[in-house]
Amino acid sequence: MKTPVPDYLNHVLSQCNLNDSGALADYIPELANADPNKLALALSTVDGTVYTTGDDDVEFTIQSMSKPFAYALAIQHLGLEKVLQKVGVEPSGEAFNQISLDAKTKLPKNPMINSGAITTHSLIPHDDQISRAEHLRRFLSELAGRELSFDEQVYASELKTAFRNLSIGYMLRTVGVLDEDPVDVVNGYIRQCAIKVTVKDLANITSVLANGGIQAKTGKQLLDRGIVRQVLSVMMTCGMYDAAGDWLSTVGIPAKSGVAGGIIGVLPGQVGIAVFSPKLDEHGNSARGIQIFERLSNDMGLHLMEGTPSAQTIVQRRYSPQQDDSIVIYELVGALQFAEAEMLLRIVQEEPNGNNTIIFDLNNLSLMNDVGRRMLIEGIDRLIEDGHEVVVVDPDYLIEQELTDRGQVMTIYRHLDDFLSKLSGLTKSE
Ligand code: DON
Repeated sequence: MKTPVPDYLNHVLSQCNLNDSGALADYIPELANADPNKLALALSTVDGTVYTTGDDDVEFTIQSMSKPFAYALAIQHLGLEKVLQKVGVEPSGEAFNQISLDAKTKLPKNPMINSGAITTHSLIPHDDQISRAEHLRRFLSELAGRELSFDEQVYASELKTAFRNLSIGYMLRTVGVLDEDPVDVVNGYIRQCAIKVTVKDLANITSVLANGGIQAKTGKQLLDRGIVRQVLSVMMTCGMYDAAGDWLSTVGIPAKSGVAGGIIGVLPGQVGIAVFSPKLDEHGNSARGIQIFERLSNDMGLHLMEGTPSAQTIVQRRYSPQQDDSIVIYELVGALQFAEAEMLLRIVQEEPNGNNTIIFDLNNLSLMNDVGRRMLIEGIDRLIEDGHEVVVVDPDYLIEQELTDRGQVMTIYRHLDDFLSKLSGLTKSE
């Protein structure tokens, strides 16, 4: 059996190939030389698997898709609070290159429009050896899993016509958001936009965001979870500029576009998506790219607001080995997050007080998030206070403590059989 996913992606691509709408960006002269027919799609999963189709080895400049990563580096370097003192998080409802500031705060409205992105570029760490753009190139290379390079031609071309971005830079310097030479900062920002990528690179990069900042293949935490959450939030509300509301309602995936024709999208916990097709709509977003995202979102149920119904049950089985009612095993299944933890504790509260042994078997749990863990441990504390002994079967080290938060002992076994064999004469009943 061959997985149908590549066939499906091919099918979507060939249908969207028929769409000939849009126009090449020409305010950066070099981008007007792009081949308008190029079309590529890549999809990554949180375990780092990448499917690609179409012109998947064509390199193009990252442009505004660099902005979320500059923002991430700025937060990693300075902390969110300091970054928020320079750039807001409100959607602007304006074009990406609007020469504007928030009327009240006198700050750029968000880090996805050019005024905010030029500001966040200035917050990336740098020194005499490593420029800010180079810092970002190295970071994106690590996320992509290969050494990326700059497109010197596109960089030089954009520098020649960067009048609007220079105006923005001078405006930011005038109000004190920038406190250094605005020309240097704008040049650095334009260089950051000239990093070359393929859709495969972008899929690798977005896979890390979809996976809470962890690169599955190396196991490295490349970005803190909190930073990923912040970055995806501004992508959701501001990533598609003045089309953000339309995008949220029709596609519902945090995304960012670039004027070279790329769009990236990240559905947390599920997939990263990257498309490339150079012709743009009136908002400066890839016309075919938007169509592909709409298709994928509809076909695959990827709209964030569709949510994932939580499991019908978290307790797969409640049983007592060899009908010994003093031992009760809760065999848990699926993901233990808030909704499932609430369900579990509601079920377990029916246990009468006493001195039974309550066992939570986590063997079939696929995931336990922080609140799931904290609620389970709080429940365990309460069971112990009710007079029970509590045992946790935790083969995957989901619980990293042997004492509860109130210092009570919960016995941890890696296998249920290890516990059962300790009980004289008892074996697991089926
Ligand atoms: O600053 C600019 O105008 C370009 N380097 C990037 C703009 C961009 O990608 C807008 N997004 N669709």
